[in-house]
Amino acid sequence: MGGKYEETFRESIENPEAFWGRIGEDIHWYKKWDKVLDDSNKPFYRWFVGGELNTCYNALDVHIEAGRGDQPALIYDSPVTDTIKTFTYTQFRDEVAKFAGVLASLGVSKGDRVLIYMPMIPEAVTAMLACARIGAVHSVVFGGFAANELATRINDARPKVIVSASCGIEVNRIVKYKPLLDEAIQLSEEGARPRACVIYQRPMEKASMVDGRDKDWTALMADAEPADCVPVLATDPLYILYTSGTTGQPKGVVRDNGGHAVALKWTMKTIYNVDAGDVYWAASDVGWVVGHSYIVYGPLLKGCTTVLFEGKPVGTPDAGVFWRVISQHKVRTLFTAPTAFRAIKREDPDAALVKKYDLSDFYALFLAGERLDPDTLRWAEKALNKPVIDHWWQTETGWAICANCLGIEHLPVKEGSPTKPAPGWNVKVVDEANQEVKAGEIGALVVKLPLPPGSLPTLWNADDRFVESYLKEFPGYYKTADAGFVDQDGYVFVMSRTDDIINTAGHRLSTGAMEEVLASHPDVAECAVLGVEDQLKGQVPVGFIVLKAGVTRPEEEIIQEVIQMVREKIGPVASFKTATVVKRLPKTRSGKILRGTIQKIADNKEWRMPATIDDPAILGEIEEALNKVGYAKARKKT
Ligand code: COA
Ligand code: AMP
Repeated sequence: MGGKYEETFRESIENPEAFWGRIGEDIHWYKKWDKVLDDSNKPFYRWFVGGELNTCYNALDVHIEAGRGDQPALIYDSPVTDTIKTFTYTQFRDEVAKFAGVLASLGVSKGDRVLIYMPMIPEAVTAMLACARIGAVHSVVFGGFAANELATRINDARPKVIVSASCGIEVNRIVKYKPLLDEAIQLSEEGARPRACVIYQRPMEKASMVDGRDKDWTALMADAEPADCVPVLATDPLYILYTSGTTGQPKGVVRDNGGHAVALKWTMKTIYNVDAGDVYWAASDVGWVVGHSYIVYGPLLKGCTTVLFEGKPVGTPDAGVFWRVISQHKVRTLFTAPTAFRAIKREDPDAALVKKYDLSDFYALFLAGERLDPDTLRWAEKALNKPVIDHWWQTETGWAICANCLGIEHLPVKEGSPTKPAPGWNVKVVDEANQEVKAGEIGALVVKLPLPPGSLPTLWNADDRFVESYLKEFPGYYKTADAGFVDQDGYVFVMSRTDDIINTAGHRLSTGAMEEVLASHPDVAECAVLGVEDQLKGQVPVGFIVLKAGVTRPEEEIIQEVIQMVREKIGPVASFKTATVVKRLPKTRSGKILRGTIQKIADNKEWRMPATIDDPAILGEIEEALNKVGYAKARKKT
């Protein structure tokens, strides 16, 4: 027995082919699929095999043909440039078709990769959809990453063309993209370099161009011939999105065309409860998965109006900007990360600015990207007086693993839980022996295979790494690398990562990658980077370094150097601002660094002396070092 949610969920698990086959009918196919789910090559599963479609056609042209040509497709709202610009579906399709023509004229065709390194401007979305239109595979790189990270992605994706802009705009500065791009190309392997770069020159910053290689966006668009949609296989890749793995080498998450279009369009109604014509706003960045799925593809596949916001929750100009955007554009649903609300709460604790705006069109707030702490949940509920929905997902999954699916059945909210598995996600909690644990017991959160459409079929050019990273440890399941539990009512609680990934301001970062940078400093013998609690960003990285014997330079100098190195090698987004020198790192007798214990000390939480510790006295030294940088006991209890 059970309600509509239980019924829908059960069917999705017991009869996935019938379930997703029916949902697949909602997409335009040039050729219908031969089989909904192909499981002949386990552990690799493929959805809608044999089907042919075009994702851009489904995101734009189809709506024009259905009479939505004059409806806004995209509203660009940029408080940092004082611009608001609306594109109807027809206008946006025409832009995209022209840029698809530009790419084709540069030799880009089906299967070629195009790397997009752009700020939150309409041209970024245009470039993504233009790739989809001609069957090219885009790979968007977030603007907060440094040249070195960009180079790693160039080496892996081997793009034929890179599309970029002269700059991005942060609250306190202009970020010049072009020097970073030039450096990244310089750093990349010769054979991986693009044959051309298309640069969008923004009025506030003119980038210098490399003769022969760099082309001006505006000039190319002036002469462009529009290109039509090219049918691709459902299983052909739509994009690659690199995400932090447990090493400095990011993982290239692949998204296919067919399963992705089917699943995302369906989530718009079932999870977010929006319809065609509604205004949907994901306050994220096109460089992240949330941006891919819910700034670009989901809302446009559904025929909604999407908001592209170039600003921050605070400081552009104030903590009322979210409410201004909601009321001005009649936003029905907002999706952002809890950290954005913590930032607003910090500046406007009584939510006084909310009262200045008419939020009558607003229906619900969705939060994801990190754990939604109960304080922020309660604050947002009180400030908005609307449903506040936590949902749990990952770059790999492409859409929510767990959510309160408002379009199916609005279940009661439990604080600290993203509710129950969304249809298609057979979530289990297992122990180290891959056995399911009892309700309420903590274990590894895993998903029984096959994963639903829209989730990653593999990693780019790395099938083995895909199996190794996600499928090997718990045979028959996908490892989420999150730990948690399911309570007796079936609510899922996501507690922490089981690997070295941390979440800083909703951004996914690898502490392992930061350790690689620290370790490369000539004076550093050993190091560890840990995510410690932060009131605004959720977690921030803190570095511990042990200096080589004989190093006599001032510690503070070395600390500043390693901080600068992380900024240069990974990027400002790493938010690596604190490091401390320690004499030794606490380890087990087998040599494993006691990260969990250090973290508890840093967060001023209760901790127990690990039985396996090599030398207990070290923990006192660690505590002292943490006190010096404002953590451990120096941290006020909140
Ligand atoms: N290009 C270049 N630099 C960028 C950047 C970009 N696209 N995005 C962030 N940065 C820089 C910031 O300017 C900052 O630099 P600084 O060290 O010189 O100050 C650094 O990277 C860290 O950024 P962030 O962690 O975002 O901190 P912040 O203080 O700038 O902003 C918030 C804090 C909470 C306001 C901000 O993180 C935010 O709006 N978050 C919303 C949630 C979100 O977008 N989540 C994404 C997934 S849903
Ligand atoms: P990303 O790939 O950047 O989306 O980050 C995915 C990781 O963020 C997950 O594995 C979780 O650790 C964390 N995460 C995302 N959403 C939530 C949520 N709603 N609750 C708890 N953790 C979350």
